[in-house]
Amino acid sequence: MNVHAPILQHASVSEALNKWLSHDRPMLIDGRWEMAASGRTFDVHDPATGARIAAVAEGDAADVDRAVKAARRAFETGPWPRMTPSDRGRLIHRIGDLILEHADTLATIEALDNGKPKTVARAADVTLSADMFHYMSGWATKIEGRTIPISALAAPGMELVSMTRKEAIGVVGQIIPWNFPLLMAAWKVAPALATGCTVVLKVAEETPLSALWLGQLLLDAGLPDGVVNIVTGFGETAGAALAGHPGVDKVAFTGSTEVGKLIVQAASKDLKKVSLELGGKSPNIVLGDADLDLTIAGAANSIFFNHGQCCNAGARLYVHDSIYDRVVEGVAQVAGQIRLGHGLDEGTEMGPLVSSVQYDRVRGFLQAGRDEGAEFMFRQDQAPEGGYFVAPTVLTNTNPQMKVVREEIFGPVLVATPFKELDDALIAEANNSVYGLAAGVWSRDTGRALSVANRLRAGTVWINCYHVFDAALPFGGYKQSGWGREMGEAVLANYLETKAVTMRIG
Ligand code: NAI
Ligand code: MG
Repeated sequence: MNVHAPILQHASVSEALNKWLSHDRPMLIDGRWEMAASGRTFDVHDPATGARIAAVAEGDAADVDRAVKAARRAFETGPWPRMTPSDRGRLIHRIGDLILEHADTLATIEALDNGKPKTVARAADVTLSADMFHYMSGWATKIEGRTIPISALAAPGMELVSMTRKEAIGVVGQIIPWNFPLLMAAWKVAPALATGCTVVLKVAEETPLSALWLGQLLLDAGLPDGVVNIVTGFGETAGAALAGHPGVDKVAFTGSTEVGKLIVQAASKDLKKVSLELGGKSPNIVLGDADLDLTIAGAANSIFFNHGQCCNAGARLYVHDSIYDRVVEGVAQVAGQIRLGHGLDEGTEMGPLVSSVQYDRVRGFLQAGRDEGAEFMFRQDQAPEGGYFVAPTVLTNTNPQMKVVREEIFGPVLVATPFKELDDALIAEANNSVYGLAAGVWSRDTGRALSVANRLRAGTVWINCYHVFDAALPFGGYKQSGWGREMGEAVLANYLETKAVTMRIG
């Protein structure tokens, strides 16, 4: 195992974390920490500086195969599926507790690896991850079938009783992105555990570290060997191998719509079950009577939170023309005050984008906007040098045909458009997207806002708020934003089969 110089670049990186980062990080397979069969590793970078912070195993098809076999063994013959729901629930709850005990380290890792401010990682990513395990721990004891009165008679006078059982779907392959590395792992792993499944988790190559730290917490909580296996590696190799592996019963994916389609193709070979949480280009609609202060702060947060790297970002702002200038100028003013910097530096409110690829991608969109005639109403000019920083930007003078209006940018870039009437044309324009993940409505007239919400083709609508997530609330997409739901009771369906049992009793 290679040992590298520790990255003593910041006071808030503890000695223990520095030591952890200075060793090549192995994968969690069958309860053991293992390097890739190939012996290969790849580097992980701090996106605020471009500096290398760690190296992790480069898992590929051979490692995915080992992990799937371990998950299969754990599912077929291990103690996990035979544990009482109550014991399983307690264990899942313990994982949530351990996440909170390790909150500072996990937030530090997220800041280093993803670039987001540590304060945000602590308040949002870590808290919501712990919540997800705590919330899901309660479901372990509440997964119930029904008894169903039936009318069928196999023979005259025969007495039958029918019931349904909800059973774990089996071995689940889970593939997650880099925008909320720990939280996406929690959204996937916690419900799979609550339902009694076993898991192979393929984390994003950009941000593998927090899930590996979580892996140790899973072991510390007492999770039996092979129940959760964590593979680090690239999408085209490890990810594709997992999506197509015949030993996997179900694939749960979060990421781009483009790769979502590849997952469906890979899974179609043997008709694995699939759930998908994909992209978005969410409309945020401001009616003429909206509370200006609330709306301006909310509209800015809807697109600039997490540097715009949210599938549900409020990327298309539609504002009634009576207040358009004030709202858009207000958002630009908020954008101008956002402090960009290293995620571990005090006072940083926005970090860099996650990678050079995303940096080039978002800048490509800005160039496309310029070429297509959008106006840069605002662009903060303070992006620090060196890392993958893109300053908050507001584009106006756009039209629905432009690439910047149609496509997911996944960066801090807002597209603003005025409207004259709250009419069918506005609703149609808001719904004019291949996506249908989220939407926002801002108005003092909550009845009117609710009526708009009812007409939006999106899996989540926020009224006079945005980015409100809760482990109890289902989240997912209409149209090409996905299949199925994450979180809430709804996510359990992703990991359960329904068995109808009919018994003759007379
Ligand atoms: P991606 O969809 O390529 O990556 C997400 C996950 O899928 C990663 O773990 C990756 O390794 C894996 N993956 C990639 N190719 C795969 C394949 N052929 N088979 C199986 N797994 C595969 O997303 P990427 O390239 O990081 O970002 C591109 C764009 O996708 C972003 O600009 C953004 O628009 C969108 N995106 C959406 C996210 C969401 O939360 N819905 C999250 C991340 C990206
Ligand atoms: Mg990709």
